[in-house]
Formats: sequence, C-alpha cells, structure tokens
Amino acid sequence: MYYYLSSETRNRPAMLLLALIILFVSFGLLSCQNEGGEMAEAPVEAHPLFEVLPDEAEDPEDNIRTPERVDLGHMLFFEPKLSRSGIISCNTCHVVGAAGVDHRERAIGEGAQVGPRNSPTVYNAAFLKTQFWDGREPTLEAQAKGPIQAHVEMDLTPEEAVSRLEETGYMRYFEAAFPDEEEPLTFDNVAKAIAAFERTLLTPGAPFDRYLEGDYDALDDQQIAGLKLFQDSGCVSCHNGPLLGGNNFMQFSHLGGEDVGRGGLTGTEEDQFVFRVAPLRNVAKTFPYFHDGSVPTLEEAVSIMGDYQLARNYNEQEIDQIVAFLESLTGEFPLVSHPSLPREPQRDRN
Ligand code: HEC
Ligand code: HEC
Repeated sequence: MYYYLSSETRNRPAMLLLALIILFVSFGLLSCQNEGGEMAEAPVEAHPLFEVLPDEAEDPEDNIRTPERVDLGHMLFFEPKLSRSGIISCNTCHVVGAAGVDHRERAIGEGAQVGPRNSPTVYNAAFLKTQFWDGREPTLEAQAKGPIQAHVEMDLTPEEAVSRLEETGYMRYFEAAFPDEEEPLTFDNVAKAIAAFERTLLTPGAPFDRYLEGDYDALDDQQIAGLKLFQDSGCVSCHNGPLLGGNNFMQFSHLGGEDVGRGGLTGTEEDQFVFRVAPLRNVAKTFPYFHDGSVPTLEEAVSIMGDYQLARNYNEQEIDQIVAFLESLTGEFPLVSHPSLPREPQRDRN
C-alpha cells in the first residue's frame, strides 16, 4: 500500500489506520506477556523515576566506537606499564571479573599507598552523568586521565605514559584505532580508547529490569516487599534513573573524617560532606560500601541510609526485604577476556 501524504483529505484516513494498527499491535504485545492472555497487573507499581538499564551506551560525537578502538582500550585497561612500578593496571582496582571493584575499603596504588577512597565499579559507568564519588569529572574520557597521573594510583606523566606505550609496541594499534590522525599515539587517545572499551562494560538484564518491562515473576515476594519499602520510604527520591543513583548530589556527613566530598572542590560551606548519590546497580556485589569503604555489609549500609537520610529505623525484616530488592539489581556481566598485550623486544635504533 502506498499513501500519498500531500493532501489533507487523503492523509486523514491513513493516519487513522496507522493509529488503529499501533493500538492493535501494542495490545497484542501487552497481552503476550502472560500466557493467559489477560493483562498482568504489577504486584507493586514501580515508581516512574526508575528506568530500565539500556543494553547499549551512546558514544560522544568525538569518540565513535570502532572494533579497533575498543580492542585497544581493552588492552590499555589491562596494561600495567601505565603505572610507574609496571604492576598496576586499571584492572588492579576495577577487577572486571569481580563486579569491577577490588573489594578493599580504600584503593591501594603505587608504592602500596592507600588512597583516600573506595574504588567504585567501572560497570555501567558509561551511563553516569558525573564520574567519581564527588562527581568532579563529567565524562569517561576526562576520568581516564586521572588515575594514570595520580600519585597514589599509577603515577605517570602523560609524556611517560605515551613513550612507554610507544616502546612497548603499541603504535600499530593506535594507528588502527585512530586511522585519520597523523599522530595517533597521544595521551588524549589513550583516554579515548579506554573510554570506548568502558562503554562495553554494561550489565543489562537484571531481574529488576525484567520487572520494569512487565515480567512480574522476575522478583520474588521478599524483593517486591523491598521495592515497596524502597519507594514508600523515599530512597527513590535520591536513588533513581537507570542506575538508581549517580544523578545528583546530597549531603552525607555520617561517616565524618577528612573527606568533605564536593566541599573539597568548591570550598563552599554548603558543599561540605556533599557526595554523589551512589549508583546502586550490582550493589550486592560491590562491597564494602560508601566512599571510604568503611561499611562491610549491605544490611548495615541500608540501615545507615534509613537512619541518616530518612530518619527511619528499619527493623531486621525490613532491612532484609530492602537488601533482597537491591540484590535484584544485579545484572548479567559480560565475559571479559584478558587480552594479549603487545610486548616487543627492545631493539637498537640507529
Ligand atoms: C589504585 C587503584 C585504582 C586504579 C589503578 C584505577 N582506579 Fe579508577 N578509581 C579508583 C578510585 C579509588 C576511584 C574513586 C576516586 C574518587 O572518587 O575520588 C576510581 C574511580 C573510577 C571511575 C569512576 C566511577 C564512578 O562511579 O564515578 C572510573 C570510570 C574509573 N575509576 C576507571 C579507571 C580506569 C579507566 C583506570 C585505568 C586508567 C583506573 N580507573 C585506575 C581506583 C583506581
Ligand atoms: C537524601 C538522598 C538519599 C536518600 C534518601 C537515600 N540515599 Fe542512599 N546514598 C546517598 C548518597 C549521597 C550516597 C553516597 C554516600 C557516600 O558518600 O558514600 C548513598 C549511598 C548508598 C549506598 C551505598 C552504595 C555504595 O556503593 O557504597 C546504599 C546501599 C544506599 N545508598 C541505599 C539507600 C537506601 C536503601 C535508601 C533508602 C532507605 C537510601 N539509600 C536513601 C543518598 C541517599
């Protein structure tokens, strides 16, 4: 069928037909979701602020992914030569086989120095609007330059990083990943390639996502009770969006200590102890908790949040229900291989 859309009168029946088709198709899809053919009803209506975790991350205009770029980023993520000692890679603190964290209270970097903060997961960081516990960097590209240079992490200057990669045999991989550039091996491109790889570290398909999509059997009764508590008592006012967090900043002074969060960046009174609302995807697997990693269990973290953010004293049963709900945020982790790294023997250059 072919509709000529230039005249008003001919257009109208076409639109009507289209509307009818859409109505029938969507009704069909909805009723397919349970075998009985009737519309299933959600045991607890999920709050509209929640969003399904996308299974694809968008690229910024200046860093469109190609397989070559992702492969290079994959190698660089595992590359210990990007640290002064040659033994620390991104994967040391963000272990891709362990939910993207190191399970330490606070990260241990160059010279076995203990850093000030807990390592957050790299999984789904592609969807964060701001990076770091205090949200000081906006993008993965900007973020990736931080740890390579940080004294307590990998401790290299950009020049050292670039010359090490050149000596190690990376040039041809940079040429393949940035084919239009005269000088492809730059520190900027190191960060771009790593960010391109990080945009593949996603964990879609969590039971909670399936619930949001209408599969109401994806959560058990305990988890549904937890979802209800999470919504009714107000956790969702801060923890929302596709990551259940990461969107805004809130004061959290309960832990005390020297780390004043955004206050350290802006120096203003109102930013003292203000931190990014932590994203909760895979939170059951990313212990220990909070920016200083001082809380070992999810039960304790939930109880502290109730107490200090909502003035609510949950009983044990309620805590177990919320924890069960948080467990439903664990998605499907991709199998990430350990890449073979370029290791060219040193040769005399005349
Ligand atoms: C020594 C341990 C260590 C190493 C090595 C390390 N990181 Fe991190 N990473 C951390 C810590 C700790 C933070 C949080 C720092 C903060 O908030 O101030 C962090 C934050 C991040 C974040 C932000 C996530 C979020 O939730 O905001 C990303 C992304 C990340 N690192 C990626 C990388 C990449 C890529 C590399 C390699 C170039 C790397 N990291 C190397 C410990 C490490
Ligand atoms: C007023 C905003 C706000 C409310 C309400 C809130 N949170 Fe949080 N939540 C935060 C902030 C901010 C952090 C990060 C704290 C830090 O700096 O470590 C956080 C961290 C967490 C963490 C630790 C995550 C991690 O990776 O370390 C969990 C778990 C958590 N919240 C669960 C909850 C639950 C459950 C509720 C409801 C009982 C709740 N939150 C209510 C703001 C809030």
